[in-house]
Amino acid sequence: MTVTTVRRILCVAGARPNYMKIKPVMDALEAQGAEVILVHTGQHYDPAMNDVFFRDLGLRPPDHFLGVGSGSHAVQTGRVMAAFEPLVEQLAPDVVVVVGDVNSTLACALVAAKGGPLLAHVEAGLRSRDWSMPEEVNRVATDRISDYLLAPSPDAADNLRAEGYRDDQIHVVGNVMIDTLFANLERAKESRTLAELGLEAGEYGLVTLHRPANVDDPAILSGLLKALGEVATHCPLVLPVHPRAADRINALGVPGGIRLVPPAGYLDFIALQAGARIVLTDSGGVQEETTALGVPCVTLRDNTERPITVEQGTNVLAGRDPARIVDTAVRLLGDPPPPRRPELWDGHAGERIARVLLEGGSAAERARPTDHPRPTDHPRPTDHH
Ligand code: UD1
Ligand code: UDP
Repeated sequence: MTVTTVRRILCVAGARPNYMKIKPVMDALEAQGAEVILVHTGQHYDPAMNDVFFRDLGLRPPDHFLGVGSGSHAVQTGRVMAAFEPLVEQLAPDVVVVVGDVNSTLACALVAAKGGPLLAHVEAGLRSRDWSMPEEVNRVATDRISDYLLAPSPDAADNLRAEGYRDDQIHVVGNVMIDTLFANLERAKESRTLAELGLEAGEYGLVTLHRPANVDDPAILSGLLKALGEVATHCPLVLPVHPRAADRINALGVPGGIRLVPPAGYLDFIALQAGARIVLTDSGGVQEETTALGVPCVTLRDNTERPITVEQGTNVLAGRDPARIVDTAVRLLGDPPPPRRPELWDGHAGERIARVLLEGGSAAERARPTDHPRPTDHPRPTDHH
């Protein structure tokens, strides 16, 4: 394709699940002639939550680092906004690209929507319909002010249409997480992590836990750990511990058969997923990667914003009830679901996104959301449960 004028595109990342989403978008934009600027908000900062991903993914160092760190939702969101606003004014990008549903996503979206650039949301349209999740608030609010709604799958586009968005705003582009997974799978196979942990492929289960609803309340966390202890009597488990959960898990202690390890780097974690007999998780991205890898996944939540991983993948929702978790895990160990992969999870989502953003005279340029009446049938939070 020909790009008539070079477009300056500001890409935002800030937390662990952002890096693997932004990388293929940046690569494709640059390959198609755009000027790309990477801004890192600093929401995640530990070497194991941040630096390792730059190394593993070959992500270049950020052009601008906002260094916001941790804080309450309001403090963190506010700090990102205050630091991002002058940067947008100074750089005057044509488009700001935000990915996913973390606080950095919403904060930068709000700044972009009130400034000059167009706003593109990668992973638009995902809905858990659970307003107690901070990510649901971030997703809905980010979509509401975005010009380009870049949906990973048709169900996400259906959600957007049902909320009243225009067809010319919605682009079903596929899943960028899977672009990065496929681009790195062969390298991940060279990881030495299984050998270092004394694990044999197909003979262990992998666990991640970090959702506030699961790890912030010790009574809930203790029930989950008990259930995992029971699963571990069928299949030993390894749990790379997210920093949010580390103190509480250490305080409660874990049953035998569960091995705690530090958060894994990307290549090591993909190797751990690919070699696992089963994965138990509350992560959004891990539900998608297990589907793409064909590894059975038990999701420790009552809902998912990624229902396609249940309908067309290997994911089963088990909720947080310990008995149900154990029953589900034992059932999947005995009878693993067949591997299936959703359409457009094919390694080319980044290229599709770049085409949408770089096509001259795109629909979003001609008709910004603000030029049109806002949807009136958008479900209010209270209607949304
Ligand atoms: C955030 C995202 C969540 C995402 C997760 C991925 C929001 C609201 N939540 O949750 O959607 O699934 O990242 O991992 O944006 N901490 C460290 N070191 C770090 C980062 C965090 O120790 O490098 C600790 C701090 O105590 C911090 C806590 O983890 O207060 C929570 O970090 P925060 O970024 O606020 O939320 P996450 O739970 O990581
Ligand atoms: N991940 C990782 N190391 C870990 C846990 C997860 O590299 O110890 C990767 C995982 O492969 C996926 C992403 O981090 O690519 C998911 O991020 P996370 O679970 O933190 O956030 P969520 O997807 O729930 O927002």
